Amino acid sequence: MAEAADARAIDGVDRSERRWAYVVALVVAFLFVVIILTGVHWAAQPPSNVEAIDASRLHLSGEFMEANLGTAMQPDGSAVVRVLAQQYSFVPACIVVPAETRVVFRATSPDVVHGFLIADTNVNTMVVPGFVAEVRTRFDKPGEHLMPCHEYCSTGHEGMWARVKVVDRSEFQRTYAAQPRANCERR
Ligand code: CUA
Repeated sequence: MAEAADARAIDGVDRSERRWAYVVALVVAFLFVVIILTGVHWAAQPPSNVEAIDASRLHLSGEFMEANLGTAMQPDGSAVVRVLAQQYSFVPACIVVPAETRVVFRATSPDVVHGFLIADTNVNTMVVPGFVAEVRTRFDKPGEHLMPCHEYCSTGHEGMWARVKVVDRSEFQRTYAAQPRANCERR
């Protein structure tokens, strides 16, 4: 009699353990699916931005044709800098922005993947053909920053870099605001 009761008790323990094992297996399976889905999602697009653009016709029209490259002040007081990263230069090669201003960099590439990094700042992203990379930042004081390409983009990679010149807001108004798309290339 006592053995039968023991056996029933053990059976009950068995069943509840099995139930817990199913619950844990479900949780593990759910996490596994989440890992796979997010992995595939982020592998299919660059993390900085999801804006697509036709890389083969950048020079013909639209935001990244040559006349639109450079720094444009916005009605809300921020600045938008449009940059083309190509083998083996950045256009413009001398970027000028006002200090103490919200700055949005928008960059794209017509050829291969390039790197977009502004030394001593938080700006660091990839420029992938077919997408617009967008980075927002703010420069607290005037100065010059190097902007080297940091993705190997073939033989001319080491020579691919630009300068970012941060000037006082009032100097920017005086010297550059008259150009609708400012740069410091000819100065
Ligand atoms: Cu462009 Cu390295």
